[in-house]
Amino acid sequence: MSLLTVSTVAELREFVQQAKFKGLSVGFVPTMGNLHAGHMSLIKHAKKHCDVVVASIFVNPLQFNDESDLTSYPRTLEQDQALLTDNGCHLLFAPTVAEMYPNGQESQTLVSVPDISIGLCGGSRPGHFDGVATVVSKLFNMVQADKAFFGEKDFQQLAVIRKMVQDMCIPIEIMGVATERSSDNDTAGLALSSRNGYLSPEELTRAPVLYATLKEVAAAIQQGNDTLSTLENAQARLTQKGFKVDYLTLCRQSDLKPVTADDTQLVVLVAAFLGKARLIDNLPFPLNRTND
Ligand code: PAJ
Repeated sequence: MSLLTVSTVAELREFVQQAKFKGLSVGFVPTMGNLHAGHMSLIKHAKKHCDVVVASIFVNPLQFNDESDLTSYPRTLEQDQALLTDNGCHLLFAPTVAEMYPNGQESQTLVSVPDISIGLCGGSRPGHFDGVATVVSKLFNMVQADKAFFGEKDFQQLAVIRKMVQDMCIPIEIMGVATERSSDNDTAGLALSSRNGYLSPEELTRAPVLYATLKEVAAAIQQGNDTLSTLENAQARLTQKGFKVDYLTLCRQSDLKPVTADDTQLVVLVAAFLGKARLIDNLPFPLNRTND
């Protein structure tokens, strides 16, 4: 089956209904386009778990709190269609803003996921996760997939979506996929992101320090070093390398709350500006507390 692109909810529903009528399972990968190997990893996972794969591309104005960030977001539809075709995606849903928000953005009913949306990226980007939860719940209702695939790269977003699905009893299984990283010599370890395109060639060679720092923090904490001083030292090293750190913090994986003495599944998360680009990354890791 070759890639079919549709822009209306009616065409999308028709396609999915036909697939379901044939007894096929449907996997869904929501994106904002400018696709790269990280997105393709989600498509590959969806293909492994489902018969039919639907992707969406929609640069969602509701989740941008900075107008210039929204207008400059890269839009590369033809290139994206070629990648989706090569990776065996079956349907691309690429709606207009009017199709997604027919009553206007201002009067759109909002989905707001409390607690987990506050802090970290939610703290620096007020309203961002309401925009994400609203558009993702609309997309879930439009597509009616069996499973949806999200990257761990956006760890807080994945947690917000999981909570939304649980709280609202949405009949879909959420699948988290590990972060895809660069394997190029110059940028090894850097999490793939559309925002890497904002980096100058020189910044690009410095960007992998972000992931290297996360690995150092995780190792230090696993060795029993003090959390606060480990994080302070790591932040100082990032600042010295020219990053403007928004946050660098340790949380428990389940709900991104501060770590308590019983928690064993932790995640260190970072957001930092390098030049114009706001980069985010994280590293989930286990903590063996038997020696405590
Ligand atoms: P976007 O940034 O395009 O990302 C789409 C999906 O790709 C997300 O689930 C994201 O976590 C995943 N992804 C991005 N880079 C990745 C990488 N290096 N490795 C693995 N997965 C990666 O996230 C959004 O769009 C939007 O907020 C969206 C969910 C589509 C709602 O508008």
